[in-house]
This record gives sequence, structure tokens and C-alpha cells, in this order.
Amino acid sequence: MTETPDTGYQVLARKYRPATFADLIGQEAMVRTLKNAFDADRIAQAFMLTGIRGTGKTTTARIIAKGLNCIGADGEGGPTTDPCGVCQNCVAITEGRHVDVMEMDAASNTGVQNIRDAIIETVSYRAAQARYKIFIIDEVHMLSTSAFNALLKTLEEPPAHVKFLFATTEIRKVPVTVLSRCQRFDLRRIEPEVMIAHLQRIAGLESAEIAEDAVALITRAAEGSVRDAMSLLDQAIAHGAGETTADQVRAMLGLADRGRVMDLFEAIMAGEAATALDELSAQYADGADPVAVLRDLAEITHWLSVISITPDAAEDPTISPDERTRGLVLAEKLPMRVLTRMWQMLLKALEEVAMAPNAMMAAEMAVIRLTHVADLPTPGDLVKKLAETPRPAGGPPSGGVGGGVSGPAPQARATGGAPLGGGGPQAALAPQTGPDLSVYPTFESVVALVEGARDIKLLIEVKTCLRLVSYAPGRLEVEVTDTAPRDLIPRLGRMLHTATGARWGISVASSGGTTTIQEQEQAAQKEAEAEVTQHPLMQAVLSRFPKARIAEIRSHAALEQEAAATALEEIPEEADDWDPFEDE
Ligand SMILES: Nc1ncnc2c1ncn2[C@@H]1O[C@H](COP(=O)(O)OP(=O)(O)O)[C@@H](O)[C@H]1O
Ligand SMILES: [Mg+2]
Ligand SMILES: [Zn+2]
Repeated sequence: MTETPDTGYQVLARKYRPATFADLIGQEAMVRTLKNAFDADRIAQAFMLTGIRGTGKTTTARIIAKGLNCIGADGEGGPTTDPCGVCQNCVAITEGRHVDVMEMDAASNTGVQNIRDAIIETVSYRAAQARYKIFIIDEVHMLSTSAFNALLKTLEEPPAHVKFLFATTEIRKVPVTVLSRCQRFDLRRIEPEVMIAHLQRIAGLESAEIAEDAVALITRAAEGSVRDAMSLLDQAIAHGAGETTADQVRAMLGLADRGRVMDLFEAIMAGEAATALDELSAQYADGADPVAVLRDLAEITHWLSVISITPDAAEDPTISPDERTRGLVLAEKLPMRVLTRMWQMLLKALEEVAMAPNAMMAAEMAVIRLTHVADLPTPGDLVKKLAETPRPAGGPPSGGVGGGVSGPAPQARATGGAPLGGGGPQAALAPQTGPDLSVYPTFESVVALVEGARDIKLLIEVKTCLRLVSYAPGRLEVEVTDTAPRDLIPRLGRMLHTATGARWGISVASSGGTTTIQEQEQAAQKEAEAEVTQHPLMQAVLSRFPKARIAEIRSHAALEQEAAATALEEIPEEADDWDPFEDE
């Protein structure tokens, strides 16, 4: 451990940066491999350390740098994975002032040019004082192409006295040509047990008192990053006198009490709307953020789904015994179908809350809707019941509810009626080089791409903030609403580039835009609902289930299309496949 003089306060994460592998937690596999390589005198030319923030990449790079140049207390030692910490090289590296060890951060603007120059200019000279000339490059994925090229040249014919230590949080952005010349180590998220022990040890060293469940909360929030955990611990114990409690940490993290979220969850599952609403508003009054409450509900739903499949997963030390017991009971009681539906509805609710003018109102609406989850009839039940209902005279032949109300209908409108069909005259205007973009004949195909990219925020913004002016594959002209975030267009551009491999031209017009997708969807939905509500079959449903709401409308044609798309030889017998309450 690096000891620090008593002058001034040093953040815990800094203060306890491991100086040796013995102090590094949770990365045993990497350390073992490194030891073997050093012992066998097969030290790679370049190392690539990757992993999420705060798992020990920079720390490891510095330990390796010391190990490579350490000469031991007696000045006789060779490369080691156990640097002595006292020789001139170790000391200088620890203090960041060794002439042969260059630490650079590719994420800083000034870094990039320097890195290129430093590598090109100095690589051919021997180390001045130590065995190796070492380049530590942090966030290496940020290097410019020219810097990578300079690097590659060196990596292709590496002088024996040069070593590279790269660290990155985004390994996929590192060129394969560079990757293939490195020994790669994937630093792992720290397991909860290991993290808890580490935090308790640090708290002990700091003579700070912190409750066990408070440490558990911090561990959970840190999601495997030691740096995050240490910063949270820092804040938590800075609160001052006496033992830091779980309540304090919860308040610090803006978390609702898990027990109370469980209460809410149980009320919802029991279908007790009034109790659920009371509980929600009580939590709101206590300062809970409605979005956080919904997120917690989603987390519990996910957790219950996991432990109902693997009960062992409940043995997580960050979960209190009380919560665990309640969870296991619930998991056993609730069918997976209910949990899955709850999950889907919560995701949708979170989307809505993000868009709603008043988050609490939206959360209340969501909770009311959710209370219907558990008591929804199974699709099987429903079909049976409907079959028993005598069909009103004059009703149309059997089949789907309504017709022609979903699917392609809004599509035609989205293009503003312009003749933009696939392969039409406009498609020919699309850039002809690169990937074939004619597979994206309409603006809807762009929306589908955004959907596929799983970027909910972007999807919502595309649906609510863009008014289409004109469309051709690869080319998009839009008007943006006042609410559109500044970076929406560049983000959409990047996403389209990633998804299609082509650069899309997106221009912003000041007028001429149609309605947003959201507006179109809402209009179509209204129309469809009005139509469907009149349908005799729907009337029958409503008389049987007065609380029923129209959650989704799918036309017969759309259902057939869907079935065809899944390409089963024949439509399976089980009614289970068709779930009129499904939220997708
Ligand atoms: N595996 C680890 N074991 C012990 N402490 C760690 C570990 N990883 C990170 N830390 C702590 O977090 C701080 C930052 O670590 P660092 O190595 O810079 O993370 P990274 O470079 O992966 O983002 C360190 O000073 C140390 O306090
Ligand atoms: Mg780092
Ligand atoms: Zn040393």
C-alpha cells in the first residue's frame, strides 16, 4: 500500500492503489499467467489490459512496469512479478518520474500527438537508466489512425528493449492488427464476497465504522468496480461520527428501502391497486424518485426470475437475509409467465415515465396497470371463455380483432405520401458505393434499425423529435422538434453507420416536416381503438372482463405475417402462442 504523509486528504481509491499483485484483488488468473510468463522468461512485447473502469488496469500496468525494471533491494535482481518497491527504479516509477517509463493517456487531447511523436522518436533509443523502455498507454482505443500506424510499425519489428502496456475499457475499438500482437488480459468485475472483504478491510484501516448491510449496498451499487466502490465508501464514511448505517448509504445512493419496494411489489402482484398506490405515494413523500422505484421493481422482477430458475443465485452476500427469504417465497409462487409480463410492462412503463410531463403520474398509471398482471387470465382460459360465449348475430366470421389497423398503415403516412417505395426513383439517388442500402426502402426501416440497436433513448428521441421531410436510402432530411437534444443527429448518424456500414447523409430542414412517428402512432392507435371497441367480439370481452383495456391491436394480416416470419411448418395447436394481453 502506498502510505501517504498526513498532509491533506487523499481519496481512498488513490490512497489504496495496490503497489504489488498481493494487494490486487479479484484478478488471480491474470496474476498467475503473468507470474508463469515472467518465471519462464517469456515476457510478451506488449500487453493489452481490458476491463470495465476501476478493476485494476492502470494499477496492473504500473506493477508490471516496476516488475520489468526492478533490480531488487540489492541491485542485482532481474524482471519479477514481485517488484521490491525500494530500488531506484521502483521508487521512480511509483512517483511517476522514471525517464524510461512513459505513461500516456490517449483520452486526453494533447496526448494523441505526443504519443505518436514519443513513439516514433524515442523507440529506437535504448533505455536510459533501466532494462526496458516502457510505454504505458491508457484508453488506447482512443488513439488516432496515424498513432495506431506508428504503433503498428514498432510492434511489427519491436526492439528488444521496448515494452508496451496498453489499457482500454473498449477492446472492440482496438484494431485487430494491434490486438494480435499483444498478450491480452481481461480484468474481471470483482465478485461481491471479495469486494465486501476489501471494503471492510479498508474501513478498518481508516478506523471507520460501517454497518455490514451498508457495505453490501455499496458493493451492489459498484457493480464490480473497485474504484467506484472505494469512492462510495469514501463518501459514506465522510458523513462523520459513529457507525455509517445502511439507511445513510441508501439516502446517499438515492435508493429506496428494498423492504418497501418488496411491499410494493407484493401489493402489485396481489392485485391490490389501492395498497400499491398508497405505498408508492408514501415512498414518493419520503423522497423516492418514481423512476427509481420502477427500476427497483424491474430489478426485483429480474432477480425473482433468476432465482426461480436457479435458487442458488439468491446466495448473494449483497442481499439481506430478509430480502432473500421473501424473494424465494415469491419466486416459488409466481409463474414465469407473470414475471416475464411484469418485466415487459415495467420496461414500457420506464419508457413512458421518461417521456411523461409528470413522472409520478406516469408511475401511478403504470402501477395501476401492473396490478392487473397477476390476475390476467391465461391465454388458454381466455380463448376457452370466448369460445363459450355465443357469437352475437351478424358478427363477422371468426378471426382476428379488427382489421388493417396496424402494421404497414402508419408507414405509408410516414413518408408523407411521397413516391418513395423501395427501388423507386429516390432509391436510385442513394449513394451507390458501399453496402446496399435499398434494403432500407422507407423511414420505417430506419426506425426498425434504431429498434434493433437497443438504444432506448435514441429510439424514443427518433420517434418524438424528428419530423420527416424526405427520405431515400442513405439520405435523410428531417425537421427537429424544439425538444430534440443537440447531439441527436450525430448519434443517429453514428448508429446508422454502425448498423449499415455506410455513412448516411442526414440534413436538418427548418420546415416541411410531417408528424413525428409518435404522433402518427398515437393517431393510429386512437382510430384503431375506436374501431375495435365497436367490434362484437371486443364487446363480449368487455362484458366478461370489465376492467380489460386494449393493450395492443394486431390485425389478422399482421398476425399472419408474423406467423409466416417465424417460419414454422404449421401454426402450432396451442393457443398459448396467441396472447391478446401480451405487451411487446
Ligand atoms: N483489482 C483491484 N484491487 C484493488 N484495488 C483496486 C483494483 N482495481 C482498482 N482498484 C482501486 O481502484 C483505483 C483505480 O484503479 P485503476 O487500476 O486505475 O483502475 P482502471 O485503470 O481499471 O480504471 C485504484 O487506485 C485502487 O484503489
Ligand atoms: Mg485506468
Ligand atoms: Zn524494485
